[in-house]
Amino acid sequence: MNALDLLKQDHDKVRDLLTQLVNTTEQAGKKRPELLAKIEKELHVHTQIEEEIFYPAFVKAAKNKQDEKLYHEAREEHRAVENMVMPDLKNTDPGGVEFSGRAKVLKELVEHHASEEEEEMFEHARKLISKSELEQLGEEMEARKKQLLAS
Ligand SMILES: [Fe+2]
Ligand SMILES: [Fe+2]
Repeated sequence: MNALDLLKQDHDKVRDLLTQLVNTTEQAGKKRPELLAKIEKELHVHTQIEEEIFYPAFVKAAKNKQDEKLYHEAREEHRAVENMVMPDLKNTDPGGVEFSGRAKVLKELVEHHASEEEEEMFEHARKLISKSELEQLGEEMEARKKQLLAS
């Protein structure tokens, strides 16, 4: 599969899970931790394949500072989600309203990040990277994804 289609598919899956999460209430009991665990796994695997395979190819193909900036900004957003927002949310009582607020912030951050990738980085990548290389990258990411999901 084309790398950009694969990444977009991941984004849509996480968007859907995040929507389900913010639609839960304090009475959701086990549903919130279950959804959160799914989201964490999806995000982690997605972030890994982007950082290991897609981003390096993008930065190698980049021809200007604007694209390099996109890359650094994206990595910072990954770090903010993985190291701050996600750990905080995991330590928040799923039975409280604080959880709702934090879940909403996670959703907004991830949605902002995914839109920026789709509308800017992926659009630039389409011009900078050949179709056959995008296919190749997609295959590499699919294989790596399987590996990570099995571990
Ligand atoms: Fe990303
Ligand atoms: Fe992404």
